[in-house]
Amino acid sequence: MKIGRITISDRASAGVYADRSGPEIEQSLRALYADIKIEAAIVADEAELISATLKRFADELKCDLIVTTGGTGISARDVTPEATRLVLEKELPGFGEIMRMQSFAKVRTAILSRAVAGVRGKALIINLPGKPSAVRECLEILAPAIREGVAHLQGEDPHQSQANR
Ligand code: MTE
Repeated sequence: MKIGRITISDRASAGVYADRSGPEIEQSLRALYADIKIEAAIVADEAELISATLKRFADELKCDLIVTTGGTGISARDVTPEATRLVLEKELPGFGEIMRMQSFAKVRTAILSRAVAGVRGKALIINLPGKPSAVRECLEILAPAIREGVAHLQGEDPHQSQANR
């Protein structure tokens, strides 16, 4: 199971503050999958950079799952959903829907995330908001859907195979 994590933040990429959200992705996914290999990147809020990194992680590094954090909001520099859509072959709106719906019950600002998800080749790509606590909350919500999506893309029947549990 190869996982790509991409932190999208002008300030984290410039070293203004430490990236806590990328490591949070890693920690949360280690609870979900026993055996994972991680590819990591931190990039600025630049659409071209984001799309290029997603393509590299999916096409060259062959990540099974790629999770981004940050840049999903409504400020001028937030372009993660647009950059992600450019590289998706199929969009999976349910991921964003369930993430916003369940998060909104706890945190009203959850409605401000425009996170998208979908498929490129055999890679499942998911945007998450930028805060470490949001990463944790959203991955907890999405865990069953991630397992299902990855298993489908790998041609497994998730109800038969216990290999990834
Ligand atoms: N979702 C959850 N579960 N928990 C949160 O704390 N924060 C919100 C939202 N989604 C939040 C959340 C906030 S404050 C913003 S601005 C948007 O995600 C977009 O965040 P981003 O621009 O860092 O991606």
